[in-house]
Amino acid sequence: MIVLTLLTACYRAPPAPTGPVELPSAGFEQDLAATQAFAASRPEYERPLGDGLSTVPGLPDLSARTCGACHPAIYEAWASSTHAHAWTDRQYQAEIGKSGNRWLCLNCHTPLRAQQDLWPVGLVDGDVERPELVRNVAFDAALRDEGITCAVCHVRDGRIVGPGLVGGPAPPHPVQADPTFLAETAMCERCHQAVAEYPGKGFVCTFRTGEEWRAGPYDDEGVGCVDCHMTRSAGPAAVGGPERAVAHHGWRGAGIPKVAGVQPPVETRPPGLDVTAAREGDALVVRYQNALAGHMLPTGDPERWVQIDVVFVDAGGATVASESTRIGQVWTWWPAPEKQSDNRLAPREARSWSLGVPAEAVGATVTASSHRITQETADYHHLGDYPRSVVTHTLTVGW
Ligand code: HEC
Ligand code: HEC
Ligand code: HEC
Ligand code: HEC
Ligand code: HEC
Repeated sequence: MIVLTLLTACYRAPPAPTGPVELPSAGFEQDLAATQAFAASRPEYERPLGDGLSTVPGLPDLSARTCGACHPAIYEAWASSTHAHAWTDRQYQAEIGKSGNRWLCLNCHTPLRAQQDLWPVGLVDGDVERPELVRNVAFDAALRDEGITCAVCHVRDGRIVGPGLVGGPAPPHPVQADPTFLAETAMCERCHQAVAEYPGKGFVCTFRTGEEWRAGPYDDEGVGCVDCHMTRSAGPAAVGGPERAVAHHGWRGAGIPKVAGVQPPVETRPPGLDVTAAREGDALVVRYQNALAGHMLPTGDPERWVQIDVVFVDAGGATVASESTRIGQVWTWWPAPEKQSDNRLAPREARSWSLGVPAEAVGATVTASSHRITQETADYHHLGDYPRSVVTHTLTVGW
């Protein structure tokens, strides 16, 4: 009796099952067919890109290094890009795997099937955090580590798709000019324009760079993502090839470093923000504009922000007063993700900020900076010395 009572006291109902469920393999072909059928039932940004399993005749494998042997300048630029670090990125590594939604992340950060260790074949009760997964025997860990590698954008159905170069040496691989590829923004928007709500979950998908670009003036002017982010310069597209206008594969964004010594990619254009400051009567007037970004400034990840700091100094150089303004979105994540405010700068939008000058001040320093995450979030993810921001402008005004 006593034993029974104790047992009863210790009994807990088993917790409701959560998280992914791994199913036994039904054989490679069957698993592939099942994951393809599942993908076909999901929106585009929840699917892998292409098949990612086929090889290209004439090439031993699809690794970026293989391409780099003949396309060294493009390889070097790519290797400095955040695309090349979309898997290894420390913040990404800290975030991924905390929820059963990991399979969603892979479709943009390592979007080829060969880059994905586990393939989704279904969802338990339609729950995106409870995928049914099968192990991919064709998984290539080295290719996964390359993140958004060359093959993600350039390999379709066993061919290399590209802008359609003519008159050069015969490539060792079949090439095809792809009209969808050439409609430059479509390729970028596959990952940079994705909006989805997941009711009852603590996450959303909110990448609106494509629609921000479309709402601004650059779309009508015929200036797309590639024109600003892959500026062209003269050089061969492949070793021994003729001089061409080759697109820079660095995709520099705000220029916040991620990997010491590699990041950010070389400057191919100035930052998006333009800032000036001048004393006008009793006030210091700071004028700032989204001068060069073809979308909101900042765009993309909702946590990003741009900050302008003003520090007034006295004749001895000591700080008299300081003020700052934050340009970005504010979200709350609990009980459900919700945008609270948004004061970002639309393309070409200009504002001015007038500050009263303290009596003792003889001058001011105005700094602008771009930020990726708050110290608080970095600490939460144990990111240590991971760089969080970059100073883009420093102006000194005296009177
Ligand atoms: C053995 C050398 C070699 C290797 C390896 C190689 N390429 Fe090429 N590739 C070339 C040559 C040569 C050209 C033609 C260059 C020209 O016409 O200026 C070319 C052309 C291209 C083009 C332009 C196609 C077009 O007509 O629009 C793309 C894109 C491309 N390669 C991507 C890749 C990718 C991605 C890889 C790796 C998966 C790769 N290449 C591997 C030699 C190579
Ligand atoms: C397969 C998905 C995918 C495609 C296609 C893609 N991107 Fe990205 N892009 C990403 C991801 C993911 C990141 C962020 C990686 C990280 O921070 O770890 C990113 C980052 C960037 C950045 C920010 C760099 C920085 O330093 O903050 C720029 C700029 C960019 N992409 C431009 C482009 C352009 C232009 C195209 C089209 C030619 C494109 N992307 C195509 C997924 C993609
Ligand atoms: C008129 C030029 C222009 C066009 C067109 C443009 N961009 Fe940008 N983009 C910029 C500049 C400049 C920045 C850097 C902003 C800054 O300094 O913070 C940037 C930043 C970014 C970032 C990084 C966000 C960050 O905070 O670092 C991403 C991602 C991006 N662009 C993607 C795209 C995509 C995708 C398209 C097409 C839909 C596009 N851009 C079109 C100029 C452009
Ligand atoms: C995020 C997508 C993306 C990735 C990743 C990518 N490229 Fe490209 N690539 C493009 C775009 C876009 C163009 C320019 C198309 C155009 O001219 O309109 C291009 C052009 C090229 C060309 C033709 C020359 C030129 O500049 O027009 C070659 C060759 C090439 N890429 C090779 C590579 C190699 C090698 C890698 C990996 C080291 C790579 N690409 C990674 C999107 C990508
Ligand atoms: C629809 C495509 C897409 C999906 C799905 C996706 N990402 Fe991203 N991710 C991006 C793009 C695009 C960027 C770059 C945005 C920018 O730089 O403005 C990015 C950037 C990031 C960054 C870097 C942020 C920064 O400020 O540098 C992290 C971390 C990240 N993603 C984590 C995740 C995780 C975790 C998941 C899954 C829960 C996920 N992503 C799913 C497209 C995607």
